[in-house]
Amino acid sequence: MASTTYKNVIVEKDDGLTWVTLNRPDKRNAMSPDLDQEMLDVVLSLEGDPETKVLILTGAGEAWCAGMDLKLYFRELENKPNERIRAEWTTHQWRWYRLWNFPKPTIAMVNGFCMGGAFTQLVACDFAFAADDAKFGLSEVNWGILPGGLVSKALQVCLGYRDALYYSLTGELFDGKKAEEIRLITKAVPAKDLKQTVTEFARRFVKMNPETLRGTKQGIKAVRDMDVGQAHEYLMAKSNELKARDKEDGYSKGIKQFIDDKTYKPGLGSYKRPE
Ligand code: COA
Repeated sequence: MASTTYKNVIVEKDDGLTWVTLNRPDKRNAMSPDLDQEMLDVVLSLEGDPETKVLILTGAGEAWCAGMDLKLYFRELENKPNERIRAEWTTHQWRWYRLWNFPKPTIAMVNGFCMGGAFTQLVACDFAFAADDAKFGLSEVNWGILPGGLVSKALQVCLGYRDALYYSLTGELFDGKKAEEIRLITKAVPAKDLKQTVTEFARRFVKMNPETLRGTKQGIKAVRDMDVGQAHEYLMAKSNELKARDKEDGYSKGIKQFIDDKTYKPGLGSYKRPE
């Protein structure tokens, strides 16, 4: 396994899967400006990296991520407006704009505490698996702020109105099982099974046509905020873009193998891809 270690992040590549680990375990992987700067570099460098077919985001030690660093991001930048603006831009670039639009499948593997600002990258990932006993909390209300940045907006993607208000206004902790029940995450599993579950799930994408995956996820995400007419136009254009980008020509191969060769059925799995 090839590995790159930044000061606050570890990147490990293993046969198509790239594991990105926030690595400030002593601070529960709270996001400092330095960590955010490194993460922006990591995510940008993985977007076009041919070795990365799936990105998995996790945390070192007992936390996934304890949100923004209250000391280094909040207090120390209070009277440094330019540094604050830069830090604010950097953190949202990697946690939302780059991750939400990342051109390959992304999975949050939540191994422990997921607090406040960490909900932004949790929602930005396409899938989220958590340990049954991982602890989630919108703690902002407990220390005099609201779920700012993009947290309140990101919540709307996954949570219903009642749950978004309940957990934002109470600051109540909830576990992985509850997070699955309210559809904040894809699935909760016992902590001992978490890594294996995520690895097996991620492996399926390594075998799939990357252009189809890219177009599909971007389509689903983009049309959320469009009206029907815009969505229709967008999806027609996106379909043409996919065909133009797909050097493998999965569309023609799939039709040929089903209609002419009768070697597979689209409803039952993937067409035979070239080796
Ligand atoms: N910002 C800055 N430092 C943080 C932090 C954060 N968000 N979360 C944890 N830390 C630091 C603690 O200050 C402590 O540092 P120290 O060893 O120098 O005293 C260290 O990380 C360990 O944290 P601790 O609180 O002792 O761990 P815990 O396991 O008992 O509790 C939490 C874990 C997540 C419940 C608790 O750390 C916490 O409430 N963190 C803040 C969560 C939050 O509100 N985040 C939202 C920010 S938007």
